[in-house]
Amino acid sequence: SIVRHYKFTVVKKNATRLCATKPIITVNGKFPGPTLYTREDDTVLVRVVNHVQDNVTIHWHGVRQLRTGWSDGPAYITQCPIQTGQSYLYNFTLTGQRGTLLWHAHINWQRATVHGAIVILPKRRIPYPFPKPQKEEIIILGEWWNSDVEAVINQAMKMGVAPNVSDVHTINGHPGPAPNCSSKGYTLHVESGKTYLLRIINAALNEELFFKIAGHNLTVVEVDASYVKPFKADTIFIAPGQTTNAILTADQSAGKYLIAVSPFMDTIVATDNLTATGTVHYQGTDALSPTALTTIPSRNATPVTNIFVDSLRSLNSKKYPANVPLTIDHSLLLTMGIGVNPCSTCQNGSRVVAAINNVTFVMPTTAILQAHYYNISGVYTADFPGNPAIPFNYTGTPPTNLQTQNGTKVYKVEFNSTVQVVLQGTSIIAPESHPTHLHGFNFFVVGKGVGNYDPKSDPKKFNLVDPVERNTMSVPTAGWTAIRFRADNPGVWFLHCHLEVHTTWGLKMGFLVENGKGPNQSILPPPSDLPKC
Ligand code: C2O
Repeated sequence: SIVRHYKFTVVKKNATRLCATKPIITVNGKFPGPTLYTREDDTVLVRVVNHVQDNVTIHWHGVRQLRTGWSDGPAYITQCPIQTGQSYLYNFTLTGQRGTLLWHAHINWQRATVHGAIVILPKRRIPYPFPKPQKEEIIILGEWWNSDVEAVINQAMKMGVAPNVSDVHTINGHPGPAPNCSSKGYTLHVESGKTYLLRIINAALNEELFFKIAGHNLTVVEVDASYVKPFKADTIFIAPGQTTNAILTADQSAGKYLIAVSPFMDTIVATDNLTATGTVHYQGTDALSPTALTTIPSRNATPVTNIFVDSLRSLNSKKYPANVPLTIDHSLLLTMGIGVNPCSTCQNGSRVVAAINNVTFVMPTTAILQAHYYNISGVYTADFPGNPAIPFNYTGTPPTNLQTQNGTKVYKVEFNSTVQVVLQGTSIIAPESHPTHLHGFNFFVVGKGVGNYDPKSDPKKFNLVDPVERNTMSVPTAGWTAIRFRADNPGVWFLHCHLEVHTTWGLKMGFLVENGKGPNQSILPPPSDLPKC
């Protein structure tokens, strides 16, 4: 293992998409941003320098940050933001991790344009647990707004309503050729007979996405930097924050084939946004329009999402065992819901809010990790409810008294304790899907179902042998997901819906993992350049 140095300079840069030019926030002037190329067990030092007017933080999504929570990145959870003209050195080690992850800004809606790939190769001379593809390709899916992205959410918050959806989806920063007058769109050049490892990343703010290539199946081999039992899929389902490594075999002899990226969303949205398209181009094939897809999944194609999610199993080999916790110290039921609260300052008189167990998370003005480390009182409370205060029919007609409470609360657990969390989707306004991300850990997805979770019968159906291990999973619409993890990482760790609009509305909370008593079981001291609030 070696030490790798990167410099991320955050600067504004003009970008032209959909025939219009606007300034966007970028890292090193690139959109998507630069790739971090690393290897398992490497130490990575990234100096982030802020040259824009806005505050900045960067999160290394899926990097475990063992004892280095100071480098995790969510603003006001583990650090104060890097202010204009300031810099901060993120310093972390990729202990026991390999695969594809992503980095992104973790403040307001800045990650719309501030994101990029993290490639963690296996240790030298350690092969992939699948035949080595001839080439590798990073494919970052995103969204593009014609308007200023922060203005979109600020306006929605002022009105108390849902924000506009994006104007188009993108593949590596580009919309497809059809709606665009300034770009050819994304092209993957292939040679017949070769294999390609696609490192697919969903960096979109608010859309779970389908990814499909005409005339080709993909073999999924890894998600969220954890190997899975390889399986064939004609459609990849990928939520914001998730990554999927899949092998494309160029098994056609020639031609061009359409790539389509389309949104999944169970609820009805007034304005739809456009599907992004790209092209797989076989070498030696000259210009003709690509073979189209026979079907593109519709916006409510829940069965397609289920086929994909239910196919995911940990590789669970001798080398990469699935160490699923079999006993549980903390068992939580967390309701994930969108509701409405009265709001005197909103133009609507009410405001859309989101809550976990009826608590709408309020961002503190000092980072919680600092408050915890230095024993600063008044920043957060450690009384996050592990169960709903008022149990109700979560996926049926809700009671009328479901106003949420504001709070900056964390749920505290002892070092190395085992935690089971059942995330229960609710239908307070309408059922919605919640791709939920836990910082600092990988978890095992041991079960999922539709309707209300039944603590008596459902655990009997849990997969405790080879459940998929990941850092972000979808809580299905009007259903639930159960996860388990071992709290072996002391610090403060954010759990939130990775749809940025839901996070903004308050669908987030913290886990506080106490220090252990043994050596190497405490959080390391903060770096001297840790930003101040
Ligand atoms: Cu990828 Cu807290 O986020």
